[in-house]
Amino acid sequence: MSDDNGRDSSLVAIVLAAGKGTRMKSNRAKMLHTLCGVPMVNYAVSAINSLLPDRLMVVVGHQADEVRAALPENCEPVLQKTQLGTGDAVRGALENVGDGEGTLLVVNGDGPIISDRTLEELVERHRAADVGATVLAAELPDPSGLGRVEEDAGVVRIVEERDATESERANNLVNLGLYAFELSEIRWALGELSSENEQGELYLTDALEIIGKKSRAVTYHLKDLEEANLVNDQAQLARAEEILRRRILDAHMKEGVTVRDPVSTHIEATVEIGRDTVVLPGTFLRGYTKVGSDCVIGPSSDLMDTTVGDGALVEHSVGRGARIGSNASVGPYAYLRPGTVLEEGSKVGAYCEVKNTTVGKGSKVPHLSYMGDARIGEGVNIGAGTITANYDGVNKSETEIGDGAFTGVNTNLIAPVEIGAGAYLGAGSVVNKNIPAGKMAVGAPARVIRDAPGKVSDEEDKMPNNGRPRSETEG
Ligand code: UD1
Ligand code: CA
Repeated sequence: MSDDNGRDSSLVAIVLAAGKGTRMKSNRAKMLHTLCGVPMVNYAVSAINSLLPDRLMVVVGHQADEVRAALPENCEPVLQKTQLGTGDAVRGALENVGDGEGTLLVVNGDGPIISDRTLEELVERHRAADVGATVLAAELPDPSGLGRVEEDAGVVRIVEERDATESERANNLVNLGLYAFELSEIRWALGELSSENEQGELYLTDALEIIGKKSRAVTYHLKDLEEANLVNDQAQLARAEEILRRRILDAHMKEGVTVRDPVSTHIEATVEIGRDTVVLPGTFLRGYTKVGSDCVIGPSSDLMDTTVGDGALVEHSVGRGARIGSNASVGPYAYLRPGTVLEEGSKVGAYCEVKNTTVGKGSKVPHLSYMGDARIGEGVNIGAGTITANYDGVNKSETEIGDGAFTGVNTNLIAPVEIGAGAYLGAGSVVNKNIPAGKMAVGAPARVIRDAPGKVSDEEDKMPNNGRPRSETEG
C-alpha cells in the first residue's frame, strides 16, 4: 500500500492538539509544555511521521498560533475554532480529506512516550483483524482520570470517568487515546454522535460503540506500559519527562559519552555529543548545543545553543549561543553570551563575562573581566579586571586588540578603541585613544611612554597535556 515515495497511501493520521489542558493549571496550552526541550505535541507528530502516512493533520485550537509555530514542517495544522470535544476535532479534520477508503490513525497529543512501534502495530493489527475500529488499551494499576474500556464480542464501549458508575470505575482497562478506524466507518459514526454527557461534548470514544455494533471494534493492548504515561497535569509531565530524559542519556552513553551522574544531568533531545566526552554532575545541555569529543563539561555547567570543539573544558559555567573552540578552557564561573567565539586553545577563566567577542587562538581572559563587542587577536593576555567600556549609555562600540598585546590588571578600554599588536598597557590604564603597535602606555588617560617590553610569557599558565584540558580528576 505504499506509493513511489514509500508513503503509506492508504493511511491518514490526525493528532488531537486543540484542547487547553485545564488540569495543567497553566496559562500555556498543554501542547506547548516541553519535555527535554521539545514541545509535547512534537512527540506524537514525529512518532507518526515514521509511519510515512499519506496525510498528517494536527488539530489546533487553544493558542492555535503558538502551537502551529511549534509544529515541525511535515504536518498540516487544521483549526478547530471551538473545542467541542474529541469527536468534533476529528470530524473537522476529516473535512479536509476526500471520501476515499483507507485507515485513519487518531492520536491524542498528550501521550509523548508513545512509540512509533506501538503506532505501527496498532495499524497493522487493525488492518489484519479487518474491523471497523481498534483502540489502544492498557490495564493500569491507577486508571484514574481516564476513560474505561469494556470489550465484548466485537463491541467496544468506552465510558469517561466522569460519566462512569461506581462499578464501571472499578474496571482498570483504560483508553490511551489512540485509535485506528476505517475511514468510511468513522465518517459515518461521527455523524451519529450525541453530546449527551457530563461535559456536553462530542466524544470520539462514543464512535467505538457505534462502529462496533455495525462492523466490529476491538482493543489492542499496549505492550510496554511505560508508554502509558499520558500527561494531564504537571506531576505527570514531570514523570514523562523523566522517562525521556533517561532515554536520551542512555543513547549518549551507548555512543561513548561518559555521564558521571545521570540523576543530575539534563540533556535535551536536540543535543549532540562526541565520544569520550565526560559530562559531570549538575550539567544542563540544551537547545542546539553540539559538543565535540574528548571534552569535559561540568560540573554545574549550563550550555544553550552552544558549540564546543574537541578537547575543550567547561567548568561551572554558562554558555548562551557561544562557540567554544577545540582545546579551549572555560571557567570556573564564566558567562559566555551570544556572539562569543573562543578560538582554538583560548581561555576564559574565573568570573568573566564575554559577549559578541572573538578571543583569538591561544589568547587568555583569565580573571574577572568583561569583554563586550571586542575582537581579540591571537596570543593576547588580558590582565585581571580588564573591562571593555563598550556602552556609553546610547551606543555600543567596538574594541580591537591586536595579536600578542598585553593589558595590565584593571585596564579600562573605552570603546571605540584599538590596541595595536604587541602593545603593552600598564596596570590601571584608562585607554581612550588608539595605542600604536609595539608601544607601552600607562596612566589615566593612558599615554605612550616607550616601546613595549619584549614578548611577555607566562609558562606556568599553559595548559598541561599539550593543550588538552586538565582531566576531571585534577583538583
Ligand atoms: C480522552 C478520552 C479518554 C482517554 C484519554 C486518554 C475522550 C472523550 N476521552 O480523555 O477516554 O482515556 O483521552 O488520554 O476522547 N482535544 C481537541 N479538541 C477538543 C477536545 C480535545 O483537539 O475539542 C484534544 C486535546 O488537546 C488532547 C486530546 O484531544 O490532546 C484529548 O483531550 P482531553 O481533553 O485531554 O481528553 P481526556 O479527558 O484526557
Ligand atoms: Ca488527556
